[in-house]
Amino acid sequence: TPKPEQNLRSPICCIMGHVDTGKTKLLDCIRGTNVQEGEAGGITQQIGATYFPAENIRERTKELKADATLKVPGLLVIDTPGHESFTNLRSRGSGLCDIAILVVDIMHGLEPQTIESLNLLKMRNTEFIIALNKVDRLYGWKSRRNAPIQQQLEQQSRDVQNEFNMRLTQIITQFKEQGLNTDLYYRIKPKDMGETYFIVPTSAITGEGIPDLLLLLVNWTQKTMVEKLTYSDEVECTVLEVKVVEGHGTTIDVVLVNGVLHEGDQIVVCGMQAPIVTNIRALLTPHPMKELRVKGTYLHHKEIKAAQGIKISAQGLEHAIAGSGLYVVGPQDDLDDIKEAAMEE
Ligand code: GTP
Ligand code: MG
Ligand code: NA
Repeated sequence: TPKPEQNLRSPICCIMGHVDTGKTKLLDCIRGTNVQEGEAGGITQQIGATYFPAENIRERTKELKADATLKVPGLLVIDTPGHESFTNLRSRGSGLCDIAILVVDIMHGLEPQTIESLNLLKMRNTEFIIALNKVDRLYGWKSRRNAPIQQQLEQQSRDVQNEFNMRLTQIITQFKEQGLNTDLYYRIKPKDMGETYFIVPTSAITGEGIPDLLLLLVNWTQKTMVEKLTYSDEVECTVLEVKVVEGHGTTIDVVLVNGVLHEGDQIVVCGMQAPIVTNIRALLTPHPMKELRVKGTYLHHKEIKAAQGIKISAQGLEHAIAGSGLYVVGPQDDLDDIKEAAMEE
């Protein structure tokens, strides 16, 4: 593995969009997992997190022969629910990320939670890439597993190309109505980059377009967000979920955005009535390419550097509040100040 040139942390990418556009399925396709089929009613109801090491991204994008020099150690992807009742979770997810993937179903175009997600992203000035998903559903589509999308489109019949172009044009118009310029990513001229949003046609079932999506995510973040992605020692960490896990008691799932956590660190999190002051008993992560929110085997760590999705076990977490910040008490810090900061949210 080549050494990162700069000390960059992994970018955090949040995947957002209307219900059932294929957000979880896209991640399943990249991970080689089956998380979506295990969900109640096929509906995501929690924020998830999956770490993709650079090696896997390199492997998955090699057919594009882009010869991308990966400067980031990997990519942390946050899955969010698309169901209308989970606006708070979409807001939390979009607040954590450096870049987002906005998933649109090519057969449906922009839908209410697409627009809601778009507004959350605009509000925070968050960059995003549009995945125009389910291209395999175009009538007569011929697929080749995990193929880059441009050549796949060129190889379709006239009829398929016509239907694709008609739907694409409608969706570009719908984005225009929301005040955004969008286009197929490979048609965008260098001078328009950053002004015109990238559209990447994908299929979560066949994997087509996924190499393109991954390459764009990594290239765009490491090209335009170097400062934001420069590793800092200051811990920035958010609680996603509070969960009881067999053998570990009450745990919290967190996203470590920056800094490093160690086993034994004294931490403070916001509690229902009072701040919770405790020590990290165990720092756990799922295996790379596995979903944090799905029960599985965990890896134990002495320390973990950002960005990562982590399960923390510690005493007294029963009343921790999801969505709040996690603070580490350093030797110079005043515990009372930190307790106050933790409760202010
Ligand atoms: P929520 O998290 O509940 O908002 O849904 P989601 O956006 O994560 O969508 P999900 O992954 O649950 O997929 C919804 C349905 O669409 C499932 O039945 C998937 O199998 C199907 N699906 C997702 N992506 C594709 C695709 O690219 N092609 C086809 N044909 N079906 C897809
Ligand atoms: Mg989902
Ligand atoms: Na779903």
